[in-house]
Amino acid sequence: MLEAVIDPELHSSIVELGMVRDVGVDEDGLVSVEIALTIASCPLRGQIEGDVESRVRGLPGVTGVEIRTSAMTAQERASLMARARKQAAERAPETQIPLTTRILAVASGKGGVGKSSVTVNLAAAMAARGHTVGVLDADIWGFSVPRMLGVTGRLGGSDGKIHPNEVEVPSLRPGGSPGLLKIVSMGFLVEDEGMALMWRGLVLAKAVEQFLTDVRWGDLDYLLIDMPPGTGDIQMALSRLLPRAELLVVTTPALAAQKVAVRVADMARRSYLKVAGVVENMSAFTCDHGQSYALFGTGGGQALASEVGAPLLAEIPLEPGVAAGGDTGSPLALAEPQSAAGQAFHLLAHRLATEIMPPVEMAGCTARIFAAANANLAALDAAKAGGSPPGTGEA
Ligand SMILES: Nc1ncnc2c1ncn2[C@@H]1O[C@H](COP(=O)(O)OP(=O)(O)OP(=O)(O)O)[C@@H](O)[C@H]1O
Ligand SMILES: [Mg+2]
Repeated sequence: MLEAVIDPELHSSIVELGMVRDVGVDEDGLVSVEIALTIASCPLRGQIEGDVESRVRGLPGVTGVEIRTSAMTAQERASLMARARKQAAERAPETQIPLTTRILAVASGKGGVGKSSVTVNLAAAMAARGHTVGVLDADIWGFSVPRMLGVTGRLGGSDGKIHPNEVEVPSLRPGGSPGLLKIVSMGFLVEDEGMALMWRGLVLAKAVEQFLTDVRWGDLDYLLIDMPPGTGDIQMALSRLLPRAELLVVTTPALAAQKVAVRVADMARRSYLKVAGVVENMSAFTCDHGQSYALFGTGGGQALASEVGAPLLAEIPLEPGVAAGGDTGSPLALAEPQSAAGQAFHLLAHRLATEIMPPVEMAGCTARIFAAANANLAALDAAKAGGSPPGTGEA
C-alpha cells in the first residue's frame, strides 16, 4: 500500500525512495509506520503522513495507524537523491541535447547577482578554449543574453527544427583552434521585451521545453543555461527535462546570503540537481592605485559553498568592464582577458574544463564501450537469426 504514497516533490514512491524505515503490526491490528523525511522540517510532512494513514487504514484488519517521522542522515539523503536522480533520468523526455554534452545551469537564490554576466563570460571563455558551447537563455521574461553577447537576428530553421544563432570565438592561444557559441534566446523570437512579459507560468516552462526539444543544437561540448532569478516553474521544468544538468550557483559576497543559501539548497533538493560549485561575483573592487574595497562585504561565497557542500570555484571581482562589456555586447573575458575579472572568468573555465566537469571525450573509453556493446548486440541479433553464438564480441 505504501508503494502508492508518492513524495509530491520527488515524484516517486516513498518505498522506492527508501523513506519507509519500519513497519510493525501488533496483535490488535494496530499498524505503526516509521517514515524518514529528507529534512525534519519537511513542509510536505502533513501530506505524506495523511497519505500513509489513509492507505493503511483501508486495509482489512487494521484497527489503527500510528505514524512516526524522523529525519534522514546526510548519507541516507545523499543516496535518496542519487536514486531520485536516476529515476528522473529514466523518465526524462527526449531532448536534442547530445548525451555527451555537459550541462551547467547558472542559478541563484535572488536576482541581479550576475547570473547572466557569469553565463556569457564563462561561455566565451570556454569557447576560447576551443569548445563548442551552447548558451540557452532560459530567462524567458528578462532575457539578456543576446544583448550581452552582441548577437541579433531571428533564429533560422529548416527540417521543422529551429537552428541556434552561431558565433565563432577565436582562440586566445596563438595557433589554437577556434570555438563556437550556439545561442538560443526568447530575444531572437519576439519583437520586443514587452511582448515576452505577456507570457506566464506554464507557457514559460513550455518555451524552455521547446528550446530543448525543437532546437537542432548539433554537437555541443557544453550547454550553459542562464536561469531566471529565483526557484520557480522554469527551474522545476529544467530538472524534469534535463535531470543530468548540474547547478552553478552565483552569489554576492554579502554574508547575509544565509537566507538565500537556504533557498538554493532547497531548490537543489527539490529538483535533485547536483550543485557543481559556487561562484562569488562582485567580490572586492580594486582601484587604479591598487587599493582594494570589499564593497559588498566578504565571505558570502565561502559561506554558501559550505552550506550547500560544493566547492567555491571562483571569486569574480567587481569591475566596471564586466558591466560595460554586457552593455556593448562584447564580453570582458574576450575583450580584456588580462583584466582581473577577465582572468577570473578564464580561471573558472579552466577549473570546470579540467577538474569539475571535463568534456566527454568520445574518442576515449566511452566510445569503446559503445562500440563493444554494439558489436555484442549485433552478434546477439545474428544468433537470434540463426547465426553464430553471442558473447563473442570484445566486451
Ligand atoms: N563582476 C561585476 N562587476 C561589475 N558589474 C557587474 C558584475 N557582475 C554583474 N555586473 C552588473 O550587475 C548587473 C546585474 O548582472 P546580471 O544581469 O548578470 O545579473 P543576473 O543575476 O543575471 O540578473 P537577473 O536576476 O535580473 O537575471 C548588470 O548590470 C551587470 O553588468
Ligand atoms: Mg539574468
